[in-house]
Amino acid sequence: MRPGDTDVAHEGPGVSSRVMGAGRSGTLHQASPQEWSCDGGFATLCWALYFHESGSQGPDASNPETRAHSMNEGILLQGVTKTYSRGGEELRVLDNLDLTMDEGRFYALMGPSGSGKTTLLNLVGGLDLPDSGSVQVAGQDIRSLRGAALSAWRARSVGFVFQGFNLIPVLSALENVALPLALTPLSRKERRQHALAALDLVDLGDRAGHRPGQLSGGQEQRVAIARAIVTDPKVLLCDEPTGDLDRAAADQVLALLQRLNGEMKKTVLMVTHDAAAAARAQRIVHLDKGRLGSIEEVQAEQAAGAKP
Ligand SMILES: Nc1ncnc2c1ncn2[C@@H]1O[C@H](COP(=O)(O)OP(=O)(O)O)[C@@H](O)[C@H]1O
Ligand SMILES: [Mg+2]
Repeated sequence: MRPGDTDVAHEGPGVSSRVMGAGRSGTLHQASPQEWSCDGGFATLCWALYFHESGSQGPDASNPETRAHSMNEGILLQGVTKTYSRGGEELRVLDNLDLTMDEGRFYALMGPSGSGKTTLLNLVGGLDLPDSGSVQVAGQDIRSLRGAALSAWRARSVGFVFQGFNLIPVLSALENVALPLALTPLSRKERRQHALAALDLVDLGDRAGHRPGQLSGGQEQRVAIARAIVTDPKVLLCDEPTGDLDRAAADQVLALLQRLNGEMKKTVLMVTHDAAAAARAQRIVHLDKGRLGSIEEVQAEQAAGAKP
């Protein structure tokens, strides 16, 4: 898509609420579970916005259907080895790694610089392939995909958030968020609606027309998160998402990731160096020289109270 190809110009505050068919009072139309799963993610965004605005806790976890949905299809790495060659030498970055991460959980990934964290994230996101071993994400064996099929799977299933935001400076927030939808069969109007819904979800509906340079770092990262969730992927992969932010902005971003995990049931895998940020996750996976260290369970009170 070319920069001028979207019709997602800024229309001022409140426009996204109109598009969503909801006011700020949380009176959004409640989709049935059938509607929720059949429209490529838009109804899920609506649901999440409804829960966010109404203060509800989300789908009833005691409902057997909801529970069954939440028990499968996480991230599964088995015997994963990744080697790079550098200056004629082989560098084994991931070494026969076995790791299971449950669907709908929030994981932090910690480890010294060079321990293979970004490499692991790239393998889970299908940006790179392991030399050996298998990587399964949301029920999909990534090694069985190639070329266009891999790109299509990635666009549908995984959202990426980077330390440096990676927004396109000449595009508005709305145009940036709408970019991943360029590969979908959605109409311009639908792309715009989805992007506005995602921006609303990160509380930036009123900044839709701003360019990245007109936003604070924290706002830029929230736009990047909106872009990551606009296709309603099951998995969010975040590589040091708070690394360039001050504490207050980092706290907002972490609270948002917690919300996306809690309300939209996203599986979140977040690389971080910051112990306080890691404590906002539910589990902390430690990586050292390409091998798995411990996996810590974070206490709920700790995750709720931790400040970066
Ligand atoms: N494409 C590549 N080619 C060669 N070496 C690489 C490549 N990507 C990463 N590495 C090396 O692999 C090691 C692990 O990198 P990385 O996964 O980025 O670590 P981390 O994110 O934990 O800091 C580092 O020594 C890095 O220099
Ligand atoms: Mg890294």
